[in-house]
Amino acid sequence: MIEKKVRDAMNEQIKHELESFYIYMSMVAYFHSQNLDGMAHWMRCQAHEEMIHAMKFFDHIIDRGGKVTLQDLKQIKTTWKTPLEAMQDAYEHEKFITAKINNLIKISREVNDYTSEPLLSWFLNEQIEEEKNTEKVSRELAMVGSSKEGILMLDRELATRVFPAGSPLNPLAYNVVA
Ligand code: FEO
Repeated sequence: MIEKKVRDAMNEQIKHELESFYIYMSMVAYFHSQNLDGMAHWMRCQAHEEMIHAMKFFDHIIDRGGKVTLQDLKQIKTTWKTPLEAMQDAYEHEKFITAKINNLIKISREVNDYTSEPLLSWFLNEQIEEEKNTEKVSRELAMVGSSKEGILMLDRELATRVFPAGSPLNPLAYNVVA
């Protein structure tokens, strides 16, 4: 049975992961509005991963006999001045999520809930990737500046990101302990 403090913190983390999905889909809409379909595709892949993250916590709580309680999502931004500003927001958001994962580990250790460690370790590694990827694209956008050619080249490169296979709602596809 999952510890109450850990269950509550994971329920809150589901909200943060769903907010990540929502923020990134808002960026998908923004990139399409700027005719940057490659960046929109890249961010759509990112949003898909966020739904997987939310479901990993969702299923972990259920698998350990806990109750999932979904919470209200906050109002998010719907537009950005530049693609760089959007990507920098994504990078800052990933750093926020990393801090939340670290706090979850702290809480689970305080109540000796070692069963959640494999899942949380997976997230620690995942956050290295998430920060690295958003920081890299931010840096590349900063390098090309306002050059239309540079932005179009980057847009084409980001269009090649491989979409995660499978449905994010299928626990068999993403179960961390499988
Ligand atoms: Fe679920 Fe991008 O962190």
